[in-house]
Amino acid sequence: MPAPAAPEPMTARAAGPLRGTAEVPGDKSVSHRALILGALAVGTTRISGLLEGEDVLDTAAAMRAFGATVERTGPGEWTVAGVGVGGFAEPRDVIDCGNSGTGVRLIMGAMATTPIVATFTGDASLRSRPMGRVTDPLALFGARAVGRKGGRLPMTLVGAAEPVPVRYTLPVASAQVKSAVLLAGLNAPGETAVTEREPSRDHTERMLAGFGARLRIEEAPEGRTIVLTGQPELRPQAVAVPRDPSSAAFPVAAALMVPGSAVRVPGVSRNPTRDGFYRTLVEMGADIAFENPRIEGGEPVADLRVRHSGGLRGIEVPPDRAASMIDEYPVLAALAAFAEGRTLMRGIRELRVTESDRLDAMARGLEACGVCLEEGEDSLAVHGAGPAGVAGGARVAVRLDHRIAMSFLCLGLAARAPVTIDDAGPIATSFPAFLPLMAGLGAVFAP
Ligand code: S3P
Repeated sequence: MPAPAAPEPMTARAAGPLRGTAEVPGDKSVSHRALILGALAVGTTRISGLLEGEDVLDTAAAMRAFGATVERTGPGEWTVAGVGVGGFAEPRDVIDCGNSGTGVRLIMGAMATTPIVATFTGDASLRSRPMGRVTDPLALFGARAVGRKGGRLPMTLVGAAEPVPVRYTLPVASAQVKSAVLLAGLNAPGETAVTEREPSRDHTERMLAGFGARLRIEEAPEGRTIVLTGQPELRPQAVAVPRDPSSAAFPVAAALMVPGSAVRVPGVSRNPTRDGFYRTLVEMGADIAFENPRIEGGEPVADLRVRHSGGLRGIEVPPDRAASMIDEYPVLAALAAFAEGRTLMRGIRELRVTESDRLDAMARGLEACGVCLEEGEDSLAVHGAGPAGVAGGARVAVRLDHRIAMSFLCLGLAARAPVTIDDAGPIATSFPAFLPLMAGLGAVFAP
């Protein structure tokens, strides 16, 4: 495994309004899935707008290790010549998924019903995250996993030689677990069904249908069940990846923090399973418009136009919205510090097992920047100071977490004193062009 890179401290300071167009990168969730489903199809899938962040590049490398031919033909343009469902070859070496929980969990699902053995690892953040949430349902198919204590990486997965289909109800709202089960179900005979009580992002279902898998959705009071018929022949597709609403959240939030800002973010996914952050902004009184709504590559997209208007109100974010904005809580917490009054975020225990314990990372960082808050096991309340703003003037530990890093750099653009993060390196996992893109809008960052 390569040695961890030296930390790259970065300071953000207030320097006037942000203005212009922010072309954020392709959606991370869709990018992982396009590579994996492309590898499981027979023939050549063409992907445009792929996120070329480290997380996704690690998944591309993994698909090569499992036998697919994955090539970059231009910026964001990739082809994947797939090996077909059940056609994965046994990797010759350990699969390193870097920082990516989505990568490792989806790939484990995709190989779990093929009789091969693979060993997975990742960076220090990924090695601290629980894998039992995917290996438990994968065991029901007949796969066996051996990992470190607490179900942690490195971990070896032995794919089932004679997989059986599975019916599984998700114990946590997790698109990664749902997707792992569906991908495993691809090579099991018969019908695999997965039920979720709260809707999580649905890119896997959408894309499976696009690749020609047979699936149906059953809605019932106890939840939404996706029923997949196993052993289809997946047909290669042209996948146009929409821009990532989770990445768009950073320039959008920064524009709402910095007085005088006006920013346009074109072509952002408006998938309803991903838009909780934007619904929350509207409730807080943000000046945000969703223009030119259209369908691109099977996903609803729109051009976002956001203006700083001041006067954001603190609100209560309902717990049943958590799954639709799980990655946006860090930047929402930063933004809430500039709103008038208290913003209460409940039902966010999952943040404790993301790339870092995001609840704790945000609470400690915000406190260091002079923000009053209350942290619960499953909640965070941020007391916004309104026009008085945020003191800043702190150095914040990002804990190998790209979203913590970007959240505090955004906050530093509007705080009274500069904010330094101890490491900007992790930003490359999801948003490699974040620093130049924000600088293009007028942000001031310095190493
Ligand atoms: C993702 C699902 C979410 C999210 C992650 C991407 C996905 O994780 O936090 O960034 O692409 O399926 P969970 O499944 O753990 O909620």
